Amino acid sequence: MPVTFAVCGCGARGLEAYAPYQEQHPDEMKIVAGADTRPERLTMLRERYGVPGELCFPSDEALLAQPKLADVMIVATQDRQHVPAALAALDKGYHVLLEKPISPSLEECRALQRKAHETGKAVVVCHVLRYTRFYSALEAILRRGDIGKIETIDAVEHVAYWHQAHSFVRGNWRRSDETSPMILAKSCHDMDILRWLAGEPCLRVQSFGALDYFKADNAPQGAARRCLDGCQCKDSCPYDAEKIYITDPRTGIRGRGALWPCGVLASEPTEEKIWDALRTGPYGRCVFHCDNDVVDHQTVNLEFANHIHATFTMTAFTQDCRRTIKVTGTLGEVEGDMSENVLRLRRFGMPEEVIDLREEGGAYSGHGGGDFGLMSSFCKLIAGGGTEGLTGVDVSVESHVMALAAEASRLDGGRTVTLSEF
Ligand SMILES: NC(=O)c1ccc[n+]([C@@H]2O[C@H](COP(=O)([O-])OP(=O)(O)OC[C@H]3O[C@@H](n4cnc5c(N)ncnc54)[C@H](O)[C@@H]3O)[C@@H](O)[C@H]2O)c1
Repeated sequence: MPVTFAVCGCGARGLEAYAPYQEQHPDEMKIVAGADTRPERLTMLRERYGVPGELCFPSDEALLAQPKLADVMIVATQDRQHVPAALAALDKGYHVLLEKPISPSLEECRALQRKAHETGKAVVVCHVLRYTRFYSALEAILRRGDIGKIETIDAVEHVAYWHQAHSFVRGNWRRSDETSPMILAKSCHDMDILRWLAGEPCLRVQSFGALDYFKADNAPQGAARRCLDGCQCKDSCPYDAEKIYITDPRTGIRGRGALWPCGVLASEPTEEKIWDALRTGPYGRCVFHCDNDVVDHQTVNLEFANHIHATFTMTAFTQDCRRTIKVTGTLGEVEGDMSENVLRLRRFGMPEEVIDLREEGGAYSGHGGGDFGLMSSFCKLIAGGGTEGLTGVDVSVESHVMALAAEASRLDGGRTVTLSEF
């Protein structure tokens, strides 16, 4: 019998990252109900997944007003909507698969943790990177002791100039008061990976960072408020919306088609719909004339209980969207680039070992295979009657404390923050 799901928030994540697992594994997953405030998303839920119209609801509240309809509720609405829906779902008896970040409020994170323990239901957070071949293999190397005792970890999140412009300047995560600070929204994944690889809790953090570039002072002369409104800098500007959403083969509708990021501008997008969105919607705005306030780069220093020291850099200013990491230990070092899906292990004094984790047919899709890896692990967990997933609420809250403490440090000029006091 497949595990049954209600999808609360049928957006890019709910409907395009997790729901498609059902198409390949109908014996493991079955979506039976859903909610979204956008009618067109409910139409997609009905048409693609055969959910009956009477079980498609116009809001999370309407769905949660029903008796329990499935084993699991996927909560994939926006950052600040997660916890109220997850608490109500647990009260109704659902297990919860919860999008990250849990919440930008530490009190809400703690409230969810308490409720999960109280109800005894599974609450698994979508820290999908732990389910990739890349980070799983790295973790296994470290746990086996191949490089001895770990001493340092250096991780870099290369956001990519166009992804920063899309999500964090023009798009949904541009303002921390509406969603979350960027170190939480984007990099709670990375905090979670550092915590996992270190193997013990983080004790202290210190952080610098700023919104340095994407603001009005940096607008070149001749820049228009919208890219299509006769901007004189269009040809030389890499952030030009027409390049990103129409012509760039990696991101535009002509090359990548309806997938993310164009799918965010319009449901089932066509080139005509994208032109319309660029003429009138938020994604056609000049990157120097938006109402964004989240950082465009940030660094964090971290100290773990077992004396491991780590650095993390998040930067908008990269060509591609990828993550790199290097771990050093007393007997060797290991490094890799997640987009390459290869790890290079060097035991001191021995030849380099290249560990090739590439898989035929789309290992790069869905966070390097992490989206489906998470679904596979989660369906097995629930089908087997378990509640303790690899990214359960307790360990996930730790990464949120790390991110929120880093943000507090950044806002306080880089002061060192001790997590136990935070
Ligand atoms: N795990 C990851 O790697 C990852 C990646 C990207 C985003 N996220 C997180 O996933 C969440 C969703 O992101 P997304 O990109 O899918 O955003 P999205 O805007 O595409 O999806 C959110 C959906 O929720 C719907 N919605 C809004 N209010 C609602 C309500 N009251 N009831 C029901 N539905 C409602 C919206 O109409 C939308 O369809 C965010 O919290 C985001 O930070 C996680």
